[in-house]
Amino acid sequence: MALQGSEFPRTKSGIPGYDELVDGGFHKGTVNTITGSSGAGKTVFASQFIHSGIKTGEKGMIITPSESAEYLKREMMSSFGWDFSTLEKEGKLSIIDVTDPVLRLQKSIEIDPVDFLINFRKLVERKLEETRPDRLFIDDLTAFFMAVDAPFKVRSLTDDLFGTIRASGVTSVITIGTAFGINQLLEYGADSATMLNRERIGNTLIRSIYIMKMRGSKIANSIRVLDISDDGLTVSALSPYP
Ligand SMILES: Nc1ncnc2c1ncn2[C@@H]1O[C@H](COP(=O)(O)OP(=O)(O)OP(=O)(O)O)[C@@H](O)[C@H]1O
Ligand SMILES: [Mg+2]
Repeated sequence: MALQGSEFPRTKSGIPGYDELVDGGFHKGTVNTITGSSGAGKTVFASQFIHSGIKTGEKGMIITPSESAEYLKREMMSSFGWDFSTLEKEGKLSIIDVTDPVLRLQKSIEIDPVDFLINFRKLVERKLEETRPDRLFIDDLTAFFMAVDAPFKVRSLTDDLFGTIRASGVTSVITIGTAFGINQLLEYGADSATMLNRERIGNTLIRSIYIMKMRGSKIANSIRVLDISDDGLTVSALSPYP
């Protein structure tokens, strides 16, 4: 008998209020995108997903193609007190900085973006095999995909990368920016897509969140207020609209 949606094992997001919107959390072993414009809270969302998992005994991995790892660690420490450096030393977290020259994967305008993405996929595959994390966060791939000239290439490179991630069994969160519609091609290939926005209500900007899709799951069809405080992100029960 086929498993009903609610019987699939779930991975808790670690964002208070989020799992209720998606019937219990991310499906284990799936690729989940978080889309939003700059400053929307994507990196905080994914960092909280990793940090909360480690707190419950899971192993985390962060791959940073855009921001350097040092910068991300400093940012999460100063904003929320999440001590990724210590977790890394304790072996609970591995952080892979794609800009690390040792990996010879550094971005350069001389490198063909398709070659870069093929090598990036291989790097991800190797690191997942070596470390076998429970949770993976890849921060902002948009810039690399933007440089690929044809949408069908973006689709096939996305499918290859996401296929590699799924095959390893890790539950992943991938952040993507909204530049030039590339996000839509990545969202198509993902198992779930979550959108972060800012809504203008009168003179105020309010952060918001909604679920665009989650394959094989019920989702809430409402836009919710997203709060950021010193404890991280919380999804409110309220809508930004009265
Ligand atoms: N302790 C805090 N309390 C409230 N807001 C905070 C706190 N720490 C950081 N922020 C806010 O969180 C936001 C950071 O969001 P984040 O870095 O996740 O954005 P992003 O979507 O990843 O953007 P980008 O595309 O530029 O990487 C900033 O706007 C910052 O002001
Ligand atoms: Mg970010």
